[in-house]
This record gives sequence, C-alpha cells and structure tokens, in this order.
Amino acid sequence: MNTAIVYYSMLGNSEMIAEKMAAKLGADVIRIEPDKAYPDKGAKKFLWGGKSAVMGERPVLKPYEFDPDKYDNIIIGFPVWASRPAPPICTFLSDQKDKMSGKKIFVFACQSGNGAEKAFDRIKKMIGIEKFAGEMIFIDPKTRVNADNDRKIDSFCENIGNGPASRFSTK
Ligand SMILES: Cc1cc2nc3c(=O)[nH]c(=O)nc-3n(C[C@H](O)[C@H](O)[C@H](O)COP(=O)(O)O)c2cc1C
Repeated sequence: MNTAIVYYSMLGNSEMIAEKMAAKLGADVIRIEPDKAYPDKGAKKFLWGGKSAVMGERPVLKPYEFDPDKYDNIIIGFPVWASRPAPPICTFLSDQKDKMSGKKIFVFACQSGNGAEKAFDRIKKMIGIEKFAGEMIFIDPKTRVNADNDRKIDSFCENIGNGPASRFSTK
C-alpha cells in the first residue's frame, strides 16, 4: 500500500513526527509551505497565525508535487492553531479534496494543550468524511520529549494498510 504523508509545520513538531512515520512506512513526504511564511517568533507568531486560523484563511501555497492517484493512504499532519488545523493544511485540503475521495485518510496533530479533536472535526466536515482511518495527537513532541510518542507512532503506523478503520486512544 502506497502512503503519502502531507504535512505543514511551523516549529518542527509535525515535521519530526512526519519524518519518523515516513522512515517506518517508507512513505513519500510532501511538505506544505505557505507562499508567505507566518512570523514564527514571539507574540506575533500567535497573533498572525491565530488570526489567520480564526478567519478561516486559505493562504496561497508554494508549489508542491502531489499525485493522489499514486497513493492508497494519505496521512495529513499539522499543528493545531486556535483549535483549528493550521491554515496551510486547509488550503491543501480544499485544493485536493475531490481527488482524495476513496483514499484512506489518516490524521495526526501536534498541539501544546487542546483543540486537536475540534480540528479533526473541521477536517472531516471540510472533506466530507465521517471518520478517519486513524488519528493521533501529540503534545509538542519536539520539546516535550516523551517515550510514549514512539509507541504512539508505532501503533499509528502498524494500522496503516491493515484492514478496517480504527480509532486510537490519544491519552
Ligand atoms: C498561531 C498558533 C496557535 C496555536 N493554537 C493552539 C491551540 O489552539 N491549542 C494548542 O494546544 N496549541 C496551540 N498552539 C501550539 C502548537 O499547536 C504546538 O506548539 C504544535 O506542537 C506546533 O507544531 P509545529 O512545530 O509542527 O508547528 C498554537 C501555536 C500557534 C503558533
């Protein structure tokens, strides 16, 4: 089963998880970048990104290569911003959702506290599905080192390509 991991990461947490999953799965990695980068330091980071998320912005993306026909599984990874998926991932989803129908869609989110479940619900509505084939939440995995994260990555990856949809415990 061919797998693509599509992710956006401002501070490297989602990137770290995407790379670890890619190494386990032999998956292709597609990094999404907004054409105009968000400020990534200090209070501006929260103000600009938070406003963009709350306003439902769909920032223009840098060109990327993604051919959904090549994949059975698509993993979407992103940081939670204001209990929403970070806007660059929303742009990706609205651009690609029609071509992703019939694929098994998995998601993972990185966050500092909470909001990922709401972000997952928004994505389901956005792309018109009721349930993901798998979902996982990580708490700032780059800075808050936790041995449990590797176990979570393993269990997430083991499910990929293995039969019926399932839901993971995230605690
Ligand atoms: C603009 C902005 C909004 C955020 N909003 C939330 C939030 O609603 N809930 C939360 O738990 N963390 C929030 N965070 C923290 C990030 O989701 C968290 O640090 C995540 O691990 C960053 O992932 P990244 O390194 O891939 O960018 C926010 C961060 C930013 C920059």
